[in-house]
Amino acid sequence: MNTHKIAVISGDGTGPEVITEGVKVLEAASDRFGFKLDFTWYDYGGERYLRTGEVLPEGAVEDLKQYKAIYLGAIGHPDVKPGILEKGILLALRFALDQYINLRPVILYPGVDTPLKDKGPEDIDFVVVRENTEGLYVGAGGALKKGTPDEVAVQESINTRKGVERCIRFAFEYCKRRNQKKKLTFCGKTNVLTYAFDLWERTFYDVAREYPDITTDYAHVDATCMWMVKNPEWFDVIVTDNMFGDIITDLGAMIQGGMGIAAGGNLNPEGVSMFEPIGGSAPKYTGKNVINPLAAICAGQMMLDYLGEIEAAKAIEEAVKKVVSQDMKSLSAGRMGYSTTEVGDLVMKNLVI
Ligand code: IPM
Ligand code: MN
Repeated sequence: MNTHKIAVISGDGTGPEVITEGVKVLEAASDRFGFKLDFTWYDYGGERYLRTGEVLPEGAVEDLKQYKAIYLGAIGHPDVKPGILEKGILLALRFALDQYINLRPVILYPGVDTPLKDKGPEDIDFVVVRENTEGLYVGAGGALKKGTPDEVAVQESINTRKGVERCIRFAFEYCKRRNQKKKLTFCGKTNVLTYAFDLWERTFYDVAREYPDITTDYAHVDATCMWMVKNPEWFDVIVTDNMFGDIITDLGAMIQGGMGIAAGGNLNPEGVSMFEPIGGSAPKYTGKNVINPLAAICAGQMMLDYLGEIEAAKAIEEAVKKVVSQDMKSLSAGRMGYSTTEVGDLVMKNLVI
């Protein structure tokens, strides 16, 4: 029997609650589809940091390299200054494990409310490929004369040909395999950020020559936001840099029904990938059994798909589709008509071979 070793970092806030449901569904899927998941739990997160002063202990990254994937809940604690855990755990893992793709599907399932008037599931079905290890996120820059009237702050966007090219190449391959509209939109800001996006643009059209079957398109990031609201049906796959990808995928999450359902994968196609709900730790809902676990369940589904358990992943997706269209009143915390654990149970019950 196929066994997949998975590291689980349930993290902070509602992370543990949603990951518990995700693991429950994943285990049910592995039973039904005849493979094994071997979970090892790690306590990295805000509580551990407050107790030990450590974000990731020494050796953590090396240790995590033994797994096929990491299943992550949420990072962020109300008693820890913003930035420490995000940079010390989430971004540190993305960078250290060279997870250079952040794959974020924006798919509206039937029966789910979207704030976009007159748009339905046939209009909202695309995937954002966000570069995940470069750009403004590398932490390049510095501050001078901090706290004085002469203070200077510089934050630079680092873009390498290698980093940009591997991301764009992944996006073309993904678009080809997705086999839908076969259209790849490059989202940038070539009219203003003329160094970074010149590199991106040249790379995009260089790689495009190897994919004559894929239609290429370009939109500035501000226009991308506009089209995502006005004509989301135009998109199939969007490729963009780290910062723009961060921003447009929150917009994407909203049009697909909210943070309750939005999932993503931090991928290193040659190494260890990490799957997570894209929302945060939601401290105000913590421990109340009201948070929506579907985003975590969908992250689990993406993880199985990535591990090659295609049938099981498909079954989870179908179960989620059933539960959102037939059972749940809303995808928002506290308004689902069910508790967190009940939603997990519903998905499990609908898992069929
Ligand atoms: C995300 C999050 C992170 C990011 C934060 C928590 C560092 O917003 O995964 O989109 O900016 O990448
Ligand atoms: Mn974000």
